[in-house]
Amino acid sequence: MPPTNHDAFWMPFTANRQFRKTPRMLVAAKDMHYTAEDGTQVLDGCAGLWCVNAGHNRPKITEAVQKAIATLDFAPTFQMGHPLAFEAADRIAKLAPADLNHVFFCNSGSEAADTALKMAIAYHRIRGDAARTRFIGRERGYHGVGFGGISVGGISGNRKLYGTMLGGVDHLPHTHDPARNAFSRGLPTHGEELADALERIVALHDPSTIASVIVEPMAGSTGVLPPPVGYLKRLREICDKYGILLIFDEVITGFGRMGGTAFAAEKFGVTPDIITCAKGITNGTIPMGAAIARDHVFETFMQGPEAGIEFPHGYTYSGHPVACAASIATLDTYAEEGLFERAEELAPYFEDAVHSLRGLPHVIDIRNIGLVGAVELEARTGAPGTRGYEVFDRAFRDGLLLRVTGDTLAISPPLIINKAQIDELFGKLGAVLRDTE
Ligand SMILES: Cc1ncc(COP(=O)(O)O)c(C=O)c1O
Repeated sequence: MPPTNHDAFWMPFTANRQFRKTPRMLVAAKDMHYTAEDGTQVLDGCAGLWCVNAGHNRPKITEAVQKAIATLDFAPTFQMGHPLAFEAADRIAKLAPADLNHVFFCNSGSEAADTALKMAIAYHRIRGDAARTRFIGRERGYHGVGFGGISVGGISGNRKLYGTMLGGVDHLPHTHDPARNAFSRGLPTHGEELADALERIVALHDPSTIASVIVEPMAGSTGVLPPPVGYLKRLREICDKYGILLIFDEVITGFGRMGGTAFAAEKFGVTPDIITCAKGITNGTIPMGAAIARDHVFETFMQGPEAGIEFPHGYTYSGHPVACAASIATLDTYAEEGLFERAEELAPYFEDAVHSLRGLPHVIDIRNIGLVGAVELEARTGAPGTRGYEVFDRAFRDGLLLRVTGDTLAISPPLIINKAQIDELFGKLGAVLRDTE
């Protein structure tokens, strides 16, 4: 075989030239481990990319995918249907809390965010509220990389190269407050009042112009920021007061990550109007995302002439049969193995383990909720991100996969992790931290 040309794959969210000098290549995976190209077994400390909640290469999911692709490789869902799409939607709706009963499929978290945002504007317009076109996102929010997602998102690095993005977007302040909340266990105590910024934003733009507020119940990609106690309830109250739809982006928090429930909405006792999800919906095996709408949102669309297309939106692969088969088998696996409950049971042990790193060199904050944690390191003067990257890279060479954002290491293992593996994970991370300048 001719040598592979490493220039052809333009890698996403990657320092391409740096990577090519010292690649980190994965060639296989099973349960809690990846196999690296040199044969090293790598403990998966971040469920791939927050998505492999049931662990890797699970037989039931693999078999379902194999069977589906050999039976119905593709079927359109525009004016056509196939049983797996209806079954998968029904299963997901049953998992979702309250009357979040209507599932619109797409292929990624980014598409789910754009779908939900479009749904929100259209909802108001159908109700005769056509001036409600503004979106309110949040600083440090991540909603993928579509123009809608980066506009409501709050990561300047993901926005600055891309011009003016969507108009009519404003942002809530983020909730990261290390001065008051450093080393919180679970939800931070301080910060409920940050939700009141929504009142000011509403007053500035007038409620009649605002379509929706979109937040991650726990911001994941910008370093694991669990919501302050009472914050999400307050957001819900303000949205209700002004007729604004509330969207929870549960691309990371969905499917058991918070422990005990499928979605963070239920865990935190706050029901949004739309939930977006992806990742764990198929255990990462086949691309899929979804926007799940409450009854009142769906019913608003189901008016007018019966022959009219109610929501002119969709993707060729919305409800792809192979993705639907993967999703059904994934939900079966979660249920059969009680993985959401398992995450909740393990959460206190995981919490103690991640907080055991307090006091190690450079550690300035530790945060956790469910089976997700973050260790924030002090940035090097004039070189932010280099220390975090070094820890991530060294951990990988030592057989541990983490996720790094700036100088924060995020840990979100598959929910099948056991206590010995939790010990191993934090033992390895601790050793790398002790050894890093
Ligand atoms: C909260 C959230 N929304 C959206 C996305 C985007 O998902 P995708 O990369 O599948 O487009 C992500 C990805 O990490 C995410 O964490």
